[in-house]
Amino acid sequence: MVNTATVDLAPLDEILKEFNGEKGAVIPILQRVQDAYGYLPKEVLSAISKRTGIPLSRLYGVATFYAQFHLTRRGCHLIKICDGTACHVRGATKLVKSLEEALQLSPGGSDPDYKYSLEIVYCLGSCGLAPIVVVDDQVYGQTNPESLIERLEKLE
Ligand code: FES
Repeated sequence: MVNTATVDLAPLDEILKEFNGEKGAVIPILQRVQDAYGYLPKEVLSAISKRTGIPLSRLYGVATFYAQFHLTRRGCHLIKICDGTACHVRGATKLVKSLEEALQLSPGGSDPDYKYSLEIVYCLGSCGLAPIVVVDDQVYGQTNPESLIERLEKLE
């Protein structure tokens, strides 16, 4: 993860070398850049445009079209809380509220330290284990606020 005040372009240079000026490789370049920086900083998008000749408008067009890309800084750990019908009925709202109270973390945002980002999703196909929370790629069923906070606080 990088500080927005000083964006180091060295990782970008390494990535662009791999693609060797391929102008059609917009999505793979953006994927690699997002892996390296955690999101797509505007300074990096401008540098990609200058160094490859890909119009900035095209980069933004792709970055805003695909949900996988993020233009704002995100936390190190991504938390997804399911608020589909079964999870909602079994306490998803309480989980969201507990994160707001304990970590100042709201849906669609990150906590002040950028340790976590929170997204609300709708039905992950495991309704029998509701409420479901996914932390990074780990799925947790029958989650309650206390165990969720405890689990999150143990993360590095
Ligand atoms: S409603 Fe949450 S897994 Fe189906």
